[in-house]
Amino acid sequence: MVRTDSIHGMWSSRLMFILAASGSAVGLGNIWRFPYVAGENGGGAFVLVYLGCIFLIGIPIMASEILLGRAGRQSPINTMRSVAIASGASSRWQIIGWMGAFAGFMILSFYAVIAGWVLSYVILLGSGVFVGADADLANDTFSGFIGNPWSVVGWFTGFMVLTVFITARGVGKGLETTVKYLMPTLFALLIILMIYAAVTSGHFIEGVVFLFSFELEKLTWDSVLIAMGQAFFTLSLGMGAIMAYGAYMPKSASIIGTATTIALMDTGVALMSGLVIFPLVFANGLESSAGPGLMFVTLPLAFGQMASGQFFGCVFFILVAFAAITSAISLVEPAVAWIVERLKTTRVVAALLVGTLVWLLGLGSAFSTNVLSDFYIVGEMTFLDTIDYVTNNIVLPLGGIFIALFAGWVLDSKILDEEMKRDLFYFPAWRFLTRFMAPVAVAIVFVMTILQN
Ligand code: PHE
Repeated sequence: MVRTDSIHGMWSSRLMFILAASGSAVGLGNIWRFPYVAGENGGGAFVLVYLGCIFLIGIPIMASEILLGRAGRQSPINTMRSVAIASGASSRWQIIGWMGAFAGFMILSFYAVIAGWVLSYVILLGSGVFVGADADLANDTFSGFIGNPWSVVGWFTGFMVLTVFITARGVGKGLETTVKYLMPTLFALLIILMIYAAVTSGHFIEGVVFLFSFELEKLTWDSVLIAMGQAFFTLSLGMGAIMAYGAYMPKSASIIGTATTIALMDTGVALMSGLVIFPLVFANGLESSAGPGLMFVTLPLAFGQMASGQFFGCVFFILVAFAAITSAISLVEPAVAWIVERLKTTRVVAALLVGTLVWLLGLGSAFSTNVLSDFYIVGEMTFLDTIDYVTNNIVLPLGGIFIALFAGWVLDSKILDEEMKRDLFYFPAWRFLTRFMAPVAVAIVFVMTILQN
């Protein structure tokens, strides 16, 4: 069952696949979520666990997803189904695809709300309200914005419309050309900002120490679970996004090498974001554990002090918004591709359908910082916090276990040999990590977290 192309279109080269997959991986997870969860979980030790998860669990699972996608060449649901059948296994393995499509809905429903915050910050920074602002003004502006249901829902809706529009146009030209220019620009701007933070904050070393000093006593099993969840989230793993993109990847590219490149770029962006944000946090006497608002308070503050900060700040948030869009598209791709295959309909219809459902669910998150801010689902977690916590820390790693088990133990060896023939050198390491390391590690973290709570 070696298919050479997909009905949904193909990336024009290996590089385009790398850019698209990095576009999926690099997003709010790196620039917004990584610094604040690292801050909430005490920095250093958390970051090391996170890096360990990226390399020992993330890369092998990413390679598995690309491999399965490329072998199946369809939406993750149908890919899993046909690859399972071709391997002589039960077609029930398609449940991986179903769980993934469902996780994509849940994740995008809060992701797009945060992306809406980003869009509104493009305008706020552009308007110059933060020029010369102090920490209080930055804090008040943020709480004022998220406290207003109308503006939050408005920007959230805008972001969803954009996502549906690009998705409807197809993965081909629209997306490829977008990521081709945006990803390098984002990199360049991050480096400029990092230099800025290093030179002007006077607290760069403090930021480095916070991110990298290993203080074991700060680590609980709960923070290990969160570090692992963050690794899955930031690499877009466990829900089929990379599998869907892998279906459009040319046969000639090596899989493990490509997965490693993507993971390195993604990790680089996350660490750089941390090295931009924490020096500014310490320089301005802000709380490192400030939570989801961290990026929305520190960066405007820093831009407000910076020469031409109004311009750079605005451009930076535009880029964060684009990073978010290139991720959002990959969150709906599994569901959209499946609808196109199943209902034999167009991408326009499929994208509208998925977009509407995500929008309805997302209202819960949009209201979590205002009308529903006192409505807790579990403990002190709002609707937004709960969906974020459950999808990242439970659903994605669970999907990851199944993907690893399938690729490691069930997949037919002929398919495996065919897909991995350009990866012979790293194959044994991949095989070991996928068969044993990844599933066992995820299982241990789950069990320990449950036992400890
Ligand atoms: N990786 C994306 C980010 O870091 C989020 C994402 C998760 C995208 C899962 C697709 C699938 O922002």
